[in-house]
Amino acid sequence: MSHSIQSQAGHGLPMILVVDYGSQYTQLIARKVREMSVYSEVIAPGKPLPHSDNPILGVILSGGPQTATGNEQPIDEAILALDVPLLGICYGMQAMAIHGGGLVKKGEVGEYGHTELSLTPSPLWAMLPADAKNHLRVWMSHEDHVVKLPEDFHIIAASRHAPIAAMAHKHKPWFALQFHPEVSHTEHGDAMLAQFVQGICQCPQAWQVTDIETSLISTIQEQVGQDHVLLGLSGGVDSSVLAALLHKAIGDQLTCVFVDTGLLRRGEADQVMTTMHDHMAVNVIKVDASERFFQQLQDVTDPETKRKICGELFVEVFQEQSKALRHNTIWLAQGTIYPDVIESGGVHGTAEVIKSHHNVGGLPETLGMPLLEPLRMLFKDEIRLLGKCLGLSEVFIGRHPFPGPGLCLRVIGEVTPERVATLQACDAIFIEELHAQGWYNQVAQAFALLLPVMSVGVVGDQRAYAPVVGLRAVTSIDYMTAEWADLPRELLTKVSSRIVNEVPGVSRVVYDITHKPPATIEWE
Ligand code: XMP
Repeated sequence: MSHSIQSQAGHGLPMILVVDYGSQYTQLIARKVREMSVYSEVIAPGKPLPHSDNPILGVILSGGPQTATGNEQPIDEAILALDVPLLGICYGMQAMAIHGGGLVKKGEVGEYGHTELSLTPSPLWAMLPADAKNHLRVWMSHEDHVVKLPEDFHIIAASRHAPIAAMAHKHKPWFALQFHPEVSHTEHGDAMLAQFVQGICQCPQAWQVTDIETSLISTIQEQVGQDHVLLGLSGGVDSSVLAALLHKAIGDQLTCVFVDTGLLRRGEADQVMTTMHDHMAVNVIKVDASERFFQQLQDVTDPETKRKICGELFVEVFQEQSKALRHNTIWLAQGTIYPDVIESGGVHGTAEVIKSHHNVGGLPETLGMPLLEPLRMLFKDEIRLLGKCLGLSEVFIGRHPFPGPGLCLRVIGEVTPERVATLQACDAIFIEELHAQGWYNQVAQAFALLLPVMSVGVVGDQRAYAPVVGLRAVTSIDYMTAEWADLPRELLTKVSSRIVNEVPGVSRVVYDITHKPPATIEWE
């Protein structure tokens, strides 16, 4: 039977608990708190409080899609019994209003986007700059609003359509905001959150991801004992950081399997092997399975079938390698990170459903090994910091994310070694120019796509009829939403002309200007 361990992240440190009522911004709230060097965890309403020795110094109730005028979810007794400061945001405010006997109604006009707010004095505004203490532009996203104050509350902010846009308890450290302080569109939102967390809850700024390296290592050593650990190394940031961490914790008791699918970015297989094996002396078995992948993908054009084939092949190769290891107990290490846990419902129940999407190659728990997930309480940027203090170079850990099934999702249509090679060459040019012109770190992800569309061009004096290449670059914080990146015209021009001139068999380059939503980041 598989089981997982909780990492000892934040061991013993005071923390802020974020109750997730389902808002798309919940992760952002938890991350903003950690960015202040204060530990935070997310919990679903109705679920038991986390079993940890981290004292909870304050609770933030998130927004959510519920309406407080129908399918409302009350504030848990266990939360109220903590008797700590509360901050309700959007739905969280409405839940607080109902709890205290106030009234919430559907507004005649919803408020979405920027709203002007008039403030009245409150301790929550203590960290706002002097010129913002009366008037602010904030980000609203609601239809319901509080129309009657709960008992013992008073108004601390009003907007045109929501006369009770923020409220505070007269005697307890309870505050509630109809708007979203966690989104960047709210002026001085960070100052409000900082005042709640540090000023009102008195949380010390003690959370440092670098400090937890030691406690992660001792937890891993305790858990694994003399057993062996197997890790599917994808070359991505999470699995690479995990490899470095495990190596430091248990040395030769770790074996990594790196499957070269033939579908990696140009030079990536070598880069992973050089960093992990040669520089860090991590025990890595490299399996060249590219022929098997190309063979199975022959004539397949449907994206989901491509994903399925890659996932199954990966497991097959992995199983072959794990059988060859002769140890009694072998743990399966996974680079599961906190957003995976939150998104997959890990905080919403006792069952830990892990999105296969995020696992290294989608390794299933049915492999029948106990599961080791030391990074499961960390956010992506924290993993990068941890990687840095473990000695991975910035170039390595700052790379853009790459999907498990690799380039078969970016060679749209049929996947052949020739088409993949064409795409790799175009992609390498795009990435090279982004680095050269200082744009690589300003976008969250950038890549080229090979389209199954032919177009006419003139190469030299010859008419050419060849495939079209697409370029995609996005900015994003959490990859759940993204905006197409407004790259400079000169950069795009240079990439386009280099691709058409340097890569044989490409006639035209187009740039994708679609946000997510409605599009996704990848094309398949
Ligand atoms: P989408 O295309 O859903 O992508 O907007 C969001 C992020 O997830 C990555 N992605 C994947 N990663 N296996 C993965 O490991 C997949 O099948 C997969 N599909 C998308 C994508 O690159 C982006 O960072």
